[in-house]
Amino acid sequence: MKYLKKILVALAVVAALGVQADSNKYDGENRGKPVMPAQINQKWKQECAACHMAFPPGLLPAASWRKIMSGLDKHFETDASLTPQETLEITRFLVENDSNRWTANTAPLRITESAWFKSKHDSREISPAVWKRASIKSRANCMACHSGADKGNFDERSIHIPQ
Ligand code: HEC
Ligand code: HEC
Repeated sequence: MKYLKKILVALAVVAALGVQADSNKYDGENRGKPVMPAQINQKWKQECAACHMAFPPGLLPAASWRKIMSGLDKHFETDASLTPQETLEITRFLVENDSNRWTANTAPLRITESAWFKSKHDSREISPAVWKRASIKSRANCMACHSGADKGNFDERSIHIPQ
């Protein structure tokens, strides 16, 4: 009996560690649901992909999307403003499909400023020289390295860093 108890305790510890390792994978982003929902809002797809790829809603928490959507007239030094109706519709889509595993209590305006992004793209993974390549230009240019980014696919097998 004593042995059995020890084994059970050991198993519980292993299980707990397993859960821990899993939730650390995206550090606030691994949500057990895809970053891109199955049902896409057409307005969002049209308007938010005009200057860059439409960033999947599951990459930021609702608070970030609300901030971004309420400041479109001064959007990263550009004017991305929409009609109130469009703004409302797109905000709803982003908020409904936001990250539900955001552990940090921050609401950055950029995906690239989040802790999980930094940990996945630190200097051990990608050297500072790589970021300066003309083929990449910006950290926000997800598609340069993740060919399936616009479909919410960040699978390690589809990562190719361009020269
Ligand atoms: C008029 C052009 C334009 C439109 C339209 C536009 N954006 Fe942007 N957006 C930008 C620019 C410029 C940046 C900064 C890109 C960079 O740093 O490389 C940016 C950056 C972002 C970022 C941060 C990326 C990062 O660094 O993690 C998010 C999130 C974002 N946009 C969301 C949206 C959403 C949501 C919409 C639709 C409502 C939208 N954008 C429409 C120009 C635009
Ligand atoms: C310069 C190339 C490059 C750019 C640009 C880039 N990434 Fe990555 N990304 C990588 C590499 C390399 C990894 C693998 C890191 C690792 O193995 O831990 C990665 C990993 C990831 C992961 C984790 C994948 C997994 O299964 O663990 C996510 C999510 C991700 N990136 C999202 C993004 C988003 C969102 C953008 C744009 C805002 C972006 N990346 C821009 C190179 C890039």
